[in-house]
Amino acid sequence: MPCPKLSPLQARFAASLAATVFVALLYLLFTSPHLAYAVDVDSILRGDHNHPVSLELFIPVDPNELDFLDSTPVSEYTAQEHLDGSDIVQRAPAGIDALANNAPGLKNIRIGETQHWVFPKEAVAGPKSPSTPGLPAGVGRRSEIQATNNDALDDLERRDDDTPLATRATTKVHITANTCLQPSLNTTQQAKDAGPPQLRLYISQTEEKPGPDTVGSGVVVFDFQGGYAVADLNADGDVYLGVSAPNNTRYAGVYNYEIAASIDGPFHRYDSGSPFLYFVDGDNGAALLQTDDTTQAQPDDEAYKQWMSLDPPPYTMFAHNMNDSKIMGLERSYCGLSKNAQIRKNGDNVDMGMTNRGLNHKPKEQFYVKGLNRSSTYYGFLAMEGNSTNSGNGVVGGGGKVWRAMNFTTKTGDNCAVLYDLEFCSEVAYAVPSNPGIRIADLKSMYDDHAADVFKNFSRSLQQIPCNAANNAQYSLARNCTHCEAAYKQWLCAVTIPRCQDYSSTLGFLQPRNVAQKFINGSTLDINNDPSLQFAVVNNSSRNPLIDEMIKPGPYKEVLPCQDLCFELAQSCPSALGFGCPEGKWLNASYGRRSANGDITCSYLGAAYFLNAAWRSAVGSPQVILGGVLGGFVVLWTVSL
Ligand SMILES: *[C@@H]1O[C@H](CO)[C@@H](O)[C@H](O)[C@H]1NC(C)=O
Ligand SMILES: *[C@@H]1O[C@H](CO)[C@@H](O)[C@H](O)[C@H]1NC(C)=O
Ligand SMILES: *[C@@H]1O[C@H](CO)[C@@H](O)[C@H](O)[C@H]1NC(C)=O
Ligand SMILES: *[C@@H]1O[C@H](CO)[C@@H](O)[C@H](O)[C@H]1NC(C)=O
Ligand SMILES: *[C@@H]1O[C@H](CO)[C@@H](O)[C@H](O)[C@H]1NC(C)=O
Ligand SMILES: *[C@@H]1O[C@H](CO)[C@@H](O)[C@H](O)[C@H]1NC(C)=O
Ligand SMILES: *[C@@H]1O[C@H](CO)[C@@H](O)[C@H](O)[C@H]1NC(C)=O
Ligand SMILES: *[C@@H]1O[C@H](CO)[C@@H](O)[C@H](O)[C@H]1NC(C)=O
Ligand SMILES: *[C@@H]1O[C@H](CO)[C@@H](O)[C@H](O)[C@H]1NC(C)=O
Ligand SMILES: *[C@@H]1O[C@H](CO)[C@@H](O)[C@H](O)[C@H]1NC(C)=O
Ligand SMILES: *[C@@H]1O[C@H](CO)[C@@H](O)[C@H](O)[C@H]1NC(C)=O
Ligand SMILES: *[C@@H]1O[C@H](CO)[C@@H](O)[C@H](O)[C@H]1NC(C)=O
Repeated sequence: MPCPKLSPLQARFAASLAATVFVALLYLLFTSPHLAYAVDVDSILRGDHNHPVSLELFIPVDPNELDFLDSTPVSEYTAQEHLDGSDIVQRAPAGIDALANNAPGLKNIRIGETQHWVFPKEAVAGPKSPSTPGLPAGVGRRSEIQATNNDALDDLERRDDDTPLATRATTKVHITANTCLQPSLNTTQQAKDAGPPQLRLYISQTEEKPGPDTVGSGVVVFDFQGGYAVADLNADGDVYLGVSAPNNTRYAGVYNYEIAASIDGPFHRYDSGSPFLYFVDGDNGAALLQTDDTTQAQPDDEAYKQWMSLDPPPYTMFAHNMNDSKIMGLERSYCGLSKNAQIRKNGDNVDMGMTNRGLNHKPKEQFYVKGLNRSSTYYGFLAMEGNSTNSGNGVVGGGGKVWRAMNFTTKTGDNCAVLYDLEFCSEVAYAVPSNPGIRIADLKSMYDDHAADVFKNFSRSLQQIPCNAANNAQYSLARNCTHCEAAYKQWLCAVTIPRCQDYSSTLGFLQPRNVAQKFINGSTLDINNDPSLQFAVVNNSSRNPLIDEMIKPGPYKEVLPCQDLCFELAQSCPSALGFGCPEGKWLNASYGRRSANGDITCSYLGAAYFLNAAWRSAVGSPQVILGGVLGGFVVLWTVSL
């Protein structure tokens, strides 16, 4: 008996529970009412000793001190034109634009310039927006809850009631800003471009025009980070804002930014935690990515069904070539990425949809990104447009959300192509040996129909075995033919639809295939120097003869299927079927081993890079009784001796 181990589900749950508790603690720490200027975790203040920070601002202002503001002659009113074109007239002194709740202001700003905004006390004391349903319950929603759940914030503030000054009603105000466009480098040589300096945000409840000249008492300054600034404060009167573009001689042109104030929740959001986006596989022009599970609910649960039926799907993504500096300094800005990223939804380069493919068959969103360059490394950003169903003016969180960037690399050769959403082998989602002369849709059905055919024959064999008899007549107490069928399907799809890598890749776990064939471009490998090659069938053919006969991909390298797929099959099926796994060097030549760190060193269905790092600990050591002859089904599909 092996020691009890966590099942994959338990292991994942334990990990996500730990992460959740940690996140919750962080949240409480950073939104504690004593830290009124609570900012996202790795942002500002924490280590910022460069800018004067006035603690007075955190204390609600004495009511008497506010009288001077009320008596200030308000001679001019400015009409601020908002993004949807509606004019919202607000009280504001000259040279200061007023912001309404959840209504962003958008402006150009020149290098060296400072602009002023006010979030008037009428808006601060105004009615909160009605709460919205948000995304269905589950993992991944926690951050949404934190960002938009007014009740939770109110609760935290109420706990502050024992401080005498809090007897004045204050409102939590969220100030956020996104840089949308940046000046460009005033030189032809962009090589070491680190991006223009970030904008600065000044906030004050006393100083009407906070800016670089007014730092000191009552003014707090924030540097934008990655084109994003966020500040939460407790306010009971006008909140004055200044935005300045630092002086600089290397860059030319203007910045464009969006600034918003809200009493409901941050209008713009950035998540510095997990990228929540994983690379599944890519070819030389496209990549498949997916989110982590969005919920751990069971298929019968309402939340599971809600996630699966979200249409349009809730998230979007951006990708940008790492060698291009255009988005440098905008990595945390939804507005910046939506206007500058090479790959974005509006470019019609991203196909999105919900899927429950993968280990635990939980809902997740997948992205098929097209229009990529070969051999290039890209930043990938998960993002949400507005609150996922609405965006822009008047929507709580309408400015969108960006997650921390991840990266992925495209392939070099043209004989691997990403397939996903197959009908029979529905769990297949990776690059397969291909030929640019074959349309993706045809390639899909070639592989899938073949696997389905082989499966049909297997089902026929299975029917001749008494699996559906009463339990005591079954071949195993723990497994029945349902298990056998499932294990066979997993194995069959992984083995007949091999996972393809560039021939040029030098990773040690790859198996070269078809080395005696011509490349697509007609060139051949010089294998005369290596006579061993010519005669090694494993190097000279594909695992599935269909590939060599119909697809003719030329030389490629294969990520071997995982050993456990074979062990699972041998364990799950009646011995009468004669399945057995090869041993020793033949096992090594036919199957790969999983990596503990989440890298994909062998092919299993539902694989995504660095998503399933917890998997290995959940797998017991294989204890297989090799019942079959070494010429049985398994060996046939792995190494023809
Ligand atoms: C830029 O320099 C000008 C002139 O020295 C100064 O008036 C202005 O305040 C500076 N702007 C910023 C943002 O520092
Ligand atoms: C997004 O905001 C709109 C308008 O405020 C609201 O009707 C909708 O329900 C919100 N969507 C979600 C998913 O909360
Ligand atoms: C670029 O830099 C040069 C030299 O520093 C300066 O003369 C020129 O005006 C700058 N161009 C712009 C558009 O700022
Ligand atoms: C991208 O940058 C890397 C490293 O700086 C370089 O090796 C590579 O050639 C560049 N690729 C392109 C397409 O410019
Ligand atoms: C592809 O490469 C070309 C030439 O280097 C470049 O202009 C283009 O922006 C790149 N596109 C992407 C999506 O990386
Ligand atoms: C790409 O992401 C990995 C982690 O997923 C990180 O270790 C690596 O440094 C990143 N590469 C670049 C060039 O940023
Ligand atoms: C043909 O393609 C292979 C693999 O993509 C590459 O290694 C080789 O250099 C190419 N040959 C020519 C002549 O382009
Ligand atoms: C299925 O079995 C039939 C009859 O034995 C055979 O002709 C056919 O080739 C088999 N199909 C596959 C895909 O093995
Ligand atoms: C096999 O066992 C599972 C439970 O472990 C059960 O749900 C399934 O119906 C059984 N299949 C057959 C064919 O008896
Ligand atoms: C290897 O492939 C070449 C080219 O198809 C063929 O001529 C040769 O006979 C093959 N060798 C073996 C052992 O299959
Ligand atoms: C041929 O395949 C064997 C078995 O995996 C491998 O060890 C060897 O490196 C391959 N040879 C070449 C040159 O591809
Ligand atoms: C198979 O591979 C494993 C790990 O790479 C190695 O420890 C083992 O010795 C290999 N077995 C044979 C028979 O080559």
